[in-house]
Amino acid sequence: MTFDRKIRIAPSILSADFADFGREIRAIEDQGADWVHVDVMDGHFVPNLTFGPPAVKAFRPHVKTFMDVHLMIAPVDPYIEAYAEAGADLITAHIEAGPHIHRTLQAIRATGRKAGVALNPGTPADSVAHLLDLTDLVCVMTVNPGFGGQKFLDMTAKIRRLRELIGDRPIHIEIDGGVDPATAPLVAAAGADVLVAGSAVFRGGSVADPAPYGNNIRAIREAAEAAV
Ligand code: DX5
Ligand code: ZN
Repeated sequence: MTFDRKIRIAPSILSADFADFGREIRAIEDQGADWVHVDVMDGHFVPNLTFGPPAVKAFRPHVKTFMDVHLMIAPVDPYIEAYAEAGADLITAHIEAGPHIHRTLQAIRATGRKAGVALNPGTPADSVAHLLDLTDLVCVMTVNPGFGGQKFLDMTAKIRRLRELIGDRPIHIEIDGGVDPATAPLVAAAGADVLVAGSAVFRGGSVADPAPYGNNIRAIREAAEAAV
């Protein structure tokens, strides 16, 4: 079977109501989310703080699809097992977060979870050339990580280069930061298949009125699919 590169939309719950994660997760999934993206920040690797393993564990029973946990923390290795046990399906670590990314990716796979590697905007595509056998996903940051709602940085040349490097390997290309119906076509045409979106999914809706989430997800998906 060939690897399925259909467009997947992964709403980031960084833009959800922080007092109501269970219902927010169920709302985005009911409205068509393919994955749930969880942004873990440590106030050190990035200038913001979010979710420890107990929070991620509390999200788990609400996620019926696939929990995509993006670790923006350094060091990362000491926390991999805890986030795996909390119920992540896939754990992404930043290549910039430590000196031994092979060890990090091996440690993630050793937990039985899928392993992703994320690249900050300043990090070149070729930095993953020797990691591809250890990786299930490459996350291309299209903002400097730390906050939702930032302006999209154009990384289409990097995405195209990654697509070439990956070839037929079963590796997703995920885009994170500033994805909306205007930017989704650029990244999809360049070869991305998993689109993270926070503010562009949650804007205009709420758990009491979740239909805008669905409209937002559909608008991003349709714009991306039209460009592939
Ligand atoms: C950025 C996070 C993103 C962020 C995306 O540091 O990794 O996942 O929540 O938010 P938007 O889609 O609002 O740029
Ligand atoms: Zn993220």
